Amino acid sequence: MFQQDLLKGKRILVTGGGSGLGKAMATRYLELGADIYICGRRKSVLEESANEMMELHGGSVKGISCDIKVPEAIEDMVDEIWAEGPLTGLVNNAAGNFISRTEDLSPKAFNAISNIVFNGTFYTTNAIGKRWLDSKLKGSVISIITTWVHSSGPFTVPSAMSKSGLATMTKSLAAEWGNRGIRLNAIAPGPFPTKGAWDRLAPGGKGIDLMDAIPMKRTGELSELANLATFLMADGCEYLTGEIVTIDGAQWLNHAGSFYDMLKDVTDDEWDKLRSMIKSSNEADKAKRSV
Ligand code: HXC
Repeated sequence: MFQQDLLKGKRILVTGGGSGLGKAMATRYLELGADIYICGRRKSVLEESANEMMELHGGSVKGISCDIKVPEAIEDMVDEIWAEGPLTGLVNNAAGNFISRTEDLSPKAFNAISNIVFNGTFYTTNAIGKRWLDSKLKGSVISIITTWVHSSGPFTVPSAMSKSGLATMTKSLAAEWGNRGIRLNAIAPGPFPTKGAWDRLAPGGKGIDLMDAIPMKRTGELSELANLATFLMADGCEYLTGEIVTIDGAQWLNHAGSFYDMLKDVTDDEWDKLRSMIKSSNEADKAKRSV
């Protein structure tokens, strides 16, 4: 789809790039000639993914342990990257989410999600944006949001609220920083099944019915998302900024992007079971975290 050296000379950070959607985008950027940084909280996952990507495609991938909830950790990471040269692009992909009745969420549960998605993404964008502005460099930011920003996100309210904030950040900063060559766009993916997301959004296979309501009758392919993220990151269409590009097989246009139908009749007992399945996934991930 793209010429082989399309991203030669680009230096791109993908947050949460060690797995799932982030890894798919980072891999495509690497294949097309970019130098890649990936960050996350699980050092072993970052190292494995960086090595695997370089074995397959050559080039340079560096994994940096960083919890984007912590502004100081972001500053340290950005210092480390800038010591090797400035970034040209940032993909805000790191996120956290789980399905829950909103009335069951404690403040801590709300913060567990919003501190990553809303606060962490802003901290990262601003830390890198400031460097670009100070050095009078161009830059490109892509934020992964969801179609819930167009419709609604019942049973995923902290994520939907936070991602809506990122949609507004994208439009606002495209306007504020556009005169200095910094552009921001967002991608709103529909269902792209990845382990991290599906363990928390469709535990035990709950959610498979969702596919019936997607006009294209299928979930997204990671390569499709990676191709879109490449088009938005590459030069050649720089007048495109402040946009949210949806890639969901027309799911949300069919009023089908949310978990409402699937979860509205879940009983108390079932919620308890779903919650404990999500907890096991969270605990398994936590055991691997180094930051
Ligand atoms: C209600 C829950 C809960 C549940 C946890 N909590 N699970 N409440 N229902 N199912 C509550 C806990 O009881 C606790 O509050 C608080 O949340 C924090 O719990 P922890 O287990 O300590 O959570 P923690 O691991 O810190 O954070 C959860 C997490 C984390 C943010 C989801 O697992 C994470 O960082 N995940 C990253 C990967 C991920 O989530 N990927 C999916 C992204 S999908 P109390 O008060 O009881 O102590 C995505 C999709 C968008 O973004 C669109 C797709 C279409």
